[in-house]
Amino acid sequence: MSRRLIAAIDTPELDRAGALVRGLSPHCGLVKLGLEFFLRHGPAGFAEAAQGQPIFLDLKLHDIPNTVAGAVRSLLPLGAEMLTIHAGGGAKMIAAAVAAAGTATWSPKILAVTVLTSLDEAALAEIGVAGGPAQQVLRLARVALDNGADGLVCSPHEIALLRDAFGARPILVVPGIRPAGAALGDQARVMTPEQAVKAGADYIVVGRPITEAADPVAAAAAIAASIR
Ligand code: C5P
Repeated sequence: MSRRLIAAIDTPELDRAGALVRGLSPHCGLVKLGLEFFLRHGPAGFAEAAQGQPIFLDLKLHDIPNTVAGAVRSLLPLGAEMLTIHAGGGAKMIAAAVAAAGTATWSPKILAVTVLTSLDEAALAEIGVAGGPAQQVLRLARVALDNGADGLVCSPHEIALLRDAFGARPILVVPGIRPAGAALGDQARVMTPEQAVKAGADYIVVGRPITEAADPVAAAAAIAASIR
């Protein structure tokens, strides 16, 4: 078991999600459910799949502050341990999400997504962001942390940049992880679980290397063992 491992269950199927949560939870700190699952099955499906286990609900909220605060309040009864917002929503939106999360009886963490890793320098230029991804990641991370976000979702190759700029305090949750020898899928720049933890990740997010393994539970157990 490793508390640092987050298993990403990217399936829209309720039964499969439930089975994966059951099988994987003993080996990881949290299980991540996202938009494709939540939009199909909603809060009732979430509760059925989650079975009371610690969940990272990755919906990447992005709207006006009042709406995002309301969305966070609507999600709180689900009991997720971590929620995501887009830092690009700006200071007031981030602060509103954090304040809404602060009304919970536990401490759900608000994590900010900075620049989607699917956006390269050219794609950013096209939407009016000059200077490339690293500069924009730092800019948005600063806005997020200054406004109370507990941490950031970042690529493995941004860990050093963010630790240098912001120190040990922000929780860094890092997808784009591949065990040595695993298929890359659509991931171009990856680190192994050990490399990412050594670089300063608090949590690593691993999806397909677990869910598409012949034995997902054994795959999760092996990754957990590698970072213990
Ligand atoms: O690639 P993999 O299946 O391990 O992805 C696990 C999770 O991490 C997925 O839910 C995916 O959306 C997310 N991810 C991400 N940023 C990346 C790569 C994957 O947020 N660069």
